[in-house]
Amino acid sequence: MPRAHEKQKKIERTNKSAALYRRVFGEVIASDNVQTILDVGAGDSDFAESVVQQGKSVERIDFDYATNPPVGENWEAADATDLGDFRGKYDVVISSFMMQHLDQKDQAKALQEMIGATVNNEGYRGVTAVYPVYKGNKLRERLEKAGFSDVAIVADTGANSTVELSLQEEHLAVYSTLYIVNNKELDDERKKTLTELIATSNALTRRKTMRDMARRAFMKPGVNTVAR
Ligand SMILES: C[S@@+](CC[C@H](N)C(=O)[O-])C[C@H]1O[C@@H](n2cnc3c(N)ncnc32)[C@H](O)[C@@H]1O
Repeated sequence: MPRAHEKQKKIERTNKSAALYRRVFGEVIASDNVQTILDVGAGDSDFAESVVQQGKSVERIDFDYATNPPVGENWEAADATDLGDFRGKYDVVISSFMMQHLDQKDQAKALQEMIGATVNNEGYRGVTAVYPVYKGNKLRERLEKAGFSDVAIVADTGANSTVELSLQEEHLAVYSTLYIVNNKELDDERKKTLTELIATSNALTRRKTMRDMARRAFMKPGVNTVAR
C-alpha cells in the first residue's frame, strides 16, 4: 500500500471567490470594452466562470493542465513564458497568484509574453493585470523614476471596496494590482527594460512563511482547503 506522501498530487485548490477577483482586477474587467480575457496560470479558480456569466469570453491557460485538465471549456495547457500562440488576441490578460511561483527571469519573460498577448490597435490598447504586487510602493517608485508611469500603474485594491469578501479572503486583498497598457511606445526594447525592472524589484515575490511550508507538505487533491 502506498504511503501518504506517495499518493499526494500537487493540485492547488484555491477556493477564491469571484468577489476577490472583482476587487483586485476591478474596472479593467468590468468595462464593456473588455470582451476577451486570457487568464494565465488559472489553476482551478472560478474567475473564468464568473466573467463568462457577464457575457465575456475567457480562455484559461496553465502548464499544469497537461496533466490535470480543469473542469469546463476554453482552456489550454501552456507555459506563461511562451505565449506565441496567443499573440495580440486579448483585450485583457490577467494573472493572479502565479508570479510568486516564478523566478525573476521567468517573471520578466512571462510579463513580456502577457503584454504581447494583448491587442494593440490604433484605437484600443490591451491591458495586462497582475495580482498581487507585494511591494507596491517600492515598485511604484521604481516605475516613476524610470519614466514608465505612462504605461505601468500600481493600483491599490483594498480600500473603499463595496465588494464583500469572506474572512478567509480579506487578507488576500490587501496588496496592489499592477496594470500595464500595451502602449504604442512600448516597443520590444522598452518592454524588456520595463519587465526586467518589475522582476528585479522583487515586488511580485512573496517572502515564504512557516505556513507556506506546512501547506506544501500537506497538499493533496481535494483536501487542500487551507485558507491563504
Ligand atoms: C496559486 S495557483 C493560482 C491559481 C489561480 N490563478 C488563482 O488565482 O486561484 C498558481 C498556478 O500557476 C500555475 N503556474 C505556475 N507557473 C506557471 C507557468 N510558468 N505557466 C503557466 N502556469 C503556471 C500553477 O500550475 C498553478 O495552477
